[in-house]
Amino acid sequence: MADALKIGIAGLGTVGASLVKILTTRSNMLTVACGRPIEVTAVSARDRSRDRGIDTSRMQWFDDSVDLARSADIEVFVELMGGAGDPAYSAVKAALSRGLHVVTANKALLARHGVELAALAEEKGVILNFEAAVAGGIPVIKALRESLTGNTVSRVYGIMNGTCNYILTRMEKEGLTFEACLKEAQRLGYAEADPAFDIEGNDTAHKLSILTTLAFGTQIAADDIYLEGITNISLEDIRAAADLGYRIKLLGVAQKTVTGIEQRVHPTMVPQDSVIAQVDGVTNAVAIESDVLGELLMVGPGAGGNATASAVMGDIADIAKARPGAQLVPSLGRPARQLEAYKRGEMQSHEGGYFIRLTVQDRTGVFASVATRMAENAISLESIVQRPKVHDDKAAQQTIILVTHATTEQSVRQAVAAIETEGYLIGKAQVIRIERPKSA
Ligand code: HSE
Repeated sequence: MADALKIGIAGLGTVGASLVKILTTRSNMLTVACGRPIEVTAVSARDRSRDRGIDTSRMQWFDDSVDLARSADIEVFVELMGGAGDPAYSAVKAALSRGLHVVTANKALLARHGVELAALAEEKGVILNFEAAVAGGIPVIKALRESLTGNTVSRVYGIMNGTCNYILTRMEKEGLTFEACLKEAQRLGYAEADPAFDIEGNDTAHKLSILTTLAFGTQIAADDIYLEGITNISLEDIRAAADLGYRIKLLGVAQKTVTGIEQRVHPTMVPQDSVIAQVDGVTNAVAIESDVLGELLMVGPGAGGNATASAVMGDIADIAKARPGAQLVPSLGRPARQLEAYKRGEMQSHEGGYFIRLTVQDRTGVFASVATRMAENAISLESIVQRPKVHDDKAAQQTIILVTHATTEQSVRQAVAAIETEGYLIGKAQVIRIERPKSA
């Protein structure tokens, strides 16, 4: 039997602790599967005294993750601290520079420095694996990087943030408030250290930028993403969507268009009977549309200790099984230096249906004016509904809900801007894009 694979883990939060538990309780099974034992010989975390439910007494302890990466007697450095900057960035760089294999779950780090780190791994002849960085336990990185080799991908999209999907699902099914659902997602260990990253869409954007690179062979462009989170989604929107036969999901979408690659993250209405609409709670789903295979949809646990640790464990097992001297799969699907420049596709040209909710003053001619502004912008309506009157102490209000047929982003923006100048709109117009999956 080959020598044990020694690994060092930086970060012992929810995921780190789950990983240590899995590696220690399943060591026999892993030894058989990998042909060699896997041993955690070094760890680092901020607080040594915290009870994590794991025994670290036989592991070398480092207070500093960069020290661990630089000097521990290990072959694999596992980074589970998170964050695009230091210490994660310096620690991963130090590990790769020293010729260690690296496994990371850090989407923010990869979105910012992924190309540089992949190039360094290639230069040093080591593996940089990051399956857990996107969609938790779903093996989407491996699918894009390896299984779909030879396919031309046209679109990749999905639900990639467990926290947002958990919040939207519980709001819809139980009528709970946004705040209560977010608190529960934090308690369950789904949310980021700063949950604004989840609910404002940044976390989905980081993940999408990684998938875009793997799907289209372009440089990572995490700053070139149209971004809208779920903080403006109200129970009223969720209920109106349900009445019209839709559910609201936070989707990340990347697709090739005639002008370039369009990347966008925003709340999206999907038909209730589509598969992606049925994906509830912390579950994630990623759809990949390609020419040879057609549509591939993968669904599975997207956040939390075990889901993430399962993907990290798979990455470590791949390293344990790698034959010395064998050609390594490039981390980003093709050698980092052969990635093409990213060209942003114009969002203005995006075609799709739209849901528009307007709260308006209850006076004669408003309904007709809304319909006219739509017609002036060549927007064809699938439905237009006026909700029952709501009276406050000032004036009667109406809610008008429109669903459009396919139209452009630009037409919708122009129509809404025209409505905003009419003087009858109360508050802001709510606009939610509609996505129609191929397999709807
Ligand atoms: N906060 C992330 C989520 C964790 O909710 O999906 C997994 O990346």
